[in-house]
Amino acid sequence: MIMKTMIRVHNLTYTYEKGRPPVLKDINLQIGEGEYIAIIGPNGCGKTTLIRHFNALLLPSAGEVQVGEFNTRETKHLREIRRKVGMAFQNADNQIVGMSVEEDVAFGPGNLGLPSAEVRRRVDQALATAGLTELRTRPPHTLSGGQKQRLALAGLLAMEPEFIVLDEPTASLDPESKKKVSQLLKTLNSQGIGIVHVTHSMDEATLADRVLVLDQGELVADGNPRDILSRVDWLKSLGLAPTYITELMWRLHQAGIDVNTSIFTIDSAVEEIASLLKHHKNSSSRAKLPGKVM
Ligand SMILES: Nc1ncnc2c1ncn2[C@@H]1O[C@H](COP(=O)(O)OP(=O)(O)OP(=O)(O)O)[C@@H](O)[C@H]1O
Ligand SMILES: [Mg+2]
Repeated sequence: MIMKTMIRVHNLTYTYEKGRPPVLKDINLQIGEGEYIAIIGPNGCGKTTLIRHFNALLLPSAGEVQVGEFNTRETKHLREIRRKVGMAFQNADNQIVGMSVEEDVAFGPGNLGLPSAEVRRRVDQALATAGLTELRTRPPHTLSGGQKQRLALAGLLAMEPEFIVLDEPTASLDPESKKKVSQLLKTLNSQGIGIVHVTHSMDEATLADRVLVLDQGELVADGNPRDILSRVDWLKSLGLAPTYITELMWRLHQAGIDVNTSIFTIDSAVEEIASLLKHHKNSSSRAKLPGKVM
């Protein structure tokens, strides 16, 4: 499949303070339209610094970042760049501006100078997608953490971005709210919106089509989740926690059992282990049958 490149990072090096070592070192990557990417890596490896380059919140110390047809250094295109690439952060409170949920979502499109019917259409659609329609009149400060994250996403959606970049949006959420945000990201991606999701959760990273791994400011892996997230020892050496399921399969494999180690879900693990056990049972009961010469 030929994909149009949406974000192109070329020899990106970034230093926060002159004279200090760079935080990002000569990074090269391309992100295609509509891709779902997870970025993982240990604390302080440069994930946030990297994604802040994707909508020109930061500009490279050396190298280039291109968003669609625009180089992020071209400040005259800042509005277009930010419209293409929406950004959501861990703390959704910082992004809330409205007195009610619907007012908050209307803020962005309202500022684009769109006709009010169009603003209303976008708000209705974004609230429905984010599952917030029933909460539309609520003051945002009364929402739960998970609802606030979905409100932040609805606000981005109403801008009809091509990409949404999220910096650990679920870090402080409970498992149920995490799941809802993940489901929402999947839905958005199925509607054609590209996703770049920085996460510490390997479970969340399994949802992506492609995983990027950063370590000490360098891009050390770029590939599909099956290949990258099944490298249990390597992930641990980077200080990352593999999923329980992957670790279980990996340990069984280390114990000499011939299991598939690229498995991430309970269902697949059960299927794999059940099939091994059935096979084992059948072959051992065959071995116990009294010898019958055919
Ligand atoms: N505003 C800043 N000024 C100076 N140094 C900074 C600044 N922000 C981040 N750094 C440093 O840059 C490096 C990369 O930080 P960054 O926040 O990008 O890492 P991260 O991978 O997002 O970490 P985490 O997983 O903890 O969120 C770290 O060493 C950090 O201390
Ligand atoms: Mg960070």
